[in-house]
Amino acid sequence: MARLAIFASGNGSNFQAIAEEIQKTGHTISCLICDRKKAYSFERAKNLGIKSYYVPYFERSKEAAEQEIAEIIEKEKADIIALAGFMRILSHQFVEKYKNRIVNIHPSLLPKYPGTGAIEKSYNSGDEELGITIHYVDGGVDTGPIIRQESFKRKFNEPLEEIEKKIHNLEYTAYPEVIKNLLDSYQ
Ligand code: GRF
Repeated sequence: MARLAIFASGNGSNFQAIAEEIQKTGHTISCLICDRKKAYSFERAKNLGIKSYYVPYFERSKEAAEQEIAEIIEKEKADIIALAGFMRILSHQFVEKYKNRIVNIHPSLLPKYPGTGAIEKSYNSGDEELGITIHYVDGGVDTGPIIRQESFKRKFNEPLEEIEKKIHNLEYTAYPEVIKNLLDSYQ
């Protein structure tokens, strides 16, 4: 049985979807790590009975923040790290340290539309097919080997809100499944 740490920065709906699924397995959610004090993710963690850590990035270097994160990962004995709306770019050193153990979810069909505003960018592109990508993290912005993609064909004149809903629903199903498989296969 393996242990998962989840990093989030904001709302945390993916964090909750992952936690609810993984809590049904024999695996453990060791903690939530969040870089924004007022993030709603903390509220969700409390309701789910998951330990959470606030790790600020301001007024100190990224290295210092990542050092603190590494200490938490050590203490909580996390095997796999899932980024779920974590709005920080991890350094190459950090990613190297946890090579093949960090995954991310992105709301577009990568390599299209990496970075922020991916849903709007996908929507405005006029692309007929839209979707999500789950990938290993490699130190770039939404680069790294792709594990799974899910997509759907947009309807004519489909509003952005509907597209957003469909994208998030794909996330909530696919990401917990991928994470469960990773935890199952973790030695
Ligand atoms: C999701 O759309 C995820 O793909 C992206 O950031 C968003 C986070 O939403 N990386 P939430 O905080 O999980 O609700």
